[in-house]
Amino acid sequence: MKIAIINGPNLNLLGTREPEIYGSKSFQEYFSELQFKYTDVELSHYQSNVEGELINKLQELGFSYDGIILNAAAYTHTSVGIGDAVKAIETPVVEVHISNTFSREEVRHQSYISPNAVGVIMGFGLRSYDLALQYFM
Ligand code: DQA
Repeated sequence: MKIAIINGPNLNLLGTREPEIYGSKSFQEYFSELQFKYTDVELSHYQSNVEGELINKLQELGFSYDGIILNAAAYTHTSVGIGDAVKAIETPVVEVHISNTFSREEVRHQSYISPNAVGVIMGFGLRSYDLALQYFM
């Protein structure tokens, strides 16, 4: 089974960025743990700070992969284009957030991803990715 994790802007700084919200582990370290746990899954990870690159990646993987776990980060709340891409592809997308965006500023309460995601998992720290992965098992 082929599953991709796609991370949006500033998530390359996990570990040092606002650790009180996002924790102190780098995504690379967490990703290695996931690969170790899910040896049967062909798990890949892509991160970009650029909106169009995230759309390109969704289109590239979205007709052959079994699942995509998408944390579009701040673009979640602004990007009609990423929302449209999630709608356009065939691969089911689970929307993930590390923090509970509903417990934060109002600007984070809107999502352009949710209407076309199969589900949303948020607020469980990095474990949110693991919980999302379990959907595809
Ligand atoms: C986030 C929440 C977003 O509001 C924020 O812009 C992020 C990360 C999360 O995983 O909690 O960059 O998607």
